[in-house]
Amino acid sequence: MSNNLLSISDLSKKEILDLIEFAKNFKTDDGSFRKEELFPDKTVANIFCEPSTRTKSSFEIAAKNLGCSVIDFDVANSSIEKGESIFETVDALSLMGVDLCVLRHPESVIRELADYIPGMTFINAGEGSISHPTQALIDLMTIIENKGSIDDLNILIVGDLDHSRVTSSFIEGISNFPFGSLTFSGHPAMCSSYQNPVLGRYEPDLDLALQEVDVIMTLRIQYERFDNDLDLDLDEYKHSYQITTERLEMAKGDAIIMHPGPVNYIEISEAAYQSENSVIRDQIANGVAIRMAVLSRFLSS
Ligand code: CP
Repeated sequence: MSNNLLSISDLSKKEILDLIEFAKNFKTDDGSFRKEELFPDKTVANIFCEPSTRTKSSFEIAAKNLGCSVIDFDVANSSIEKGESIFETVDALSLMGVDLCVLRHPESVIRELADYIPGMTFINAGEGSISHPTQALIDLMTIIENKGSIDDLNILIVGDLDHSRVTSSFIEGISNFPFGSLTFSGHPAMCSSYQNPVLGRYEPDLDLALQEVDVIMTLRIQYERFDNDLDLDLDEYKHSYQITTERLEMAKGDAIIMHPGPVNYIEISEAAYQSENSVIRDQIANGVAIRMAVLSRFLSS
């Protein structure tokens, strides 16, 4: 295994399944997480140059559960605001003794950083619209826990696909498995990269896309990543692309609904979020377990 987790493609199928199995060990029957002082001599820095709730907090909880010291790096009050580059920033932290850097950044800098500071371990916590490998591990774990395996499942991803690092990492992850089918759906203006996909097919009619589906992954509109103001009639958008309990009837009866968060209730109705088919809250909890597994593996390597 590499020293860094930059992309889900860095992991073999066996490494993905081993991490998921390992993550399960950190969950207890009452829904809490085991605390094991495995790395009291390690320091982890959380550097988030884009907003985050789930990823940032779950990495911090995971690192503390493992006995690590954690630096919640405050980008807005750091010398980045005085013009220091991310390279000099992480180099300085490395010289102070930080062992592992969890980085979310709007640009693709993490590979160059890993080359620039070879003594530091890097975990990609979100790279622009490009990749989010630990989210893909969470999503695969949640599917396996609820469906037994990925094999033969019909999977639908619907929403703002063009801006979705979750989608690109998920595709890299499931390409290791003999899934049944993969369908992309959503507003054509948000799915331009998925209309002739290398893997799977694009079906703009969500009602058709839902037929015989086992897994529905919904994604919010990422307004912050559009270059121009989005001229969108939200009622029309919801009518065509919102996952509702009525629409759920078109998928298999035991289909699961997933969402990486944050949820805006445009792409999914509150009733669908709260339905017994929804595993969205499982995904959030699995975030801590997966990140405990990832930190354990990469702090040991
Ligand atoms: N899924 C996800 O990355 O959520 P946050 O932006 O809240 O970390």
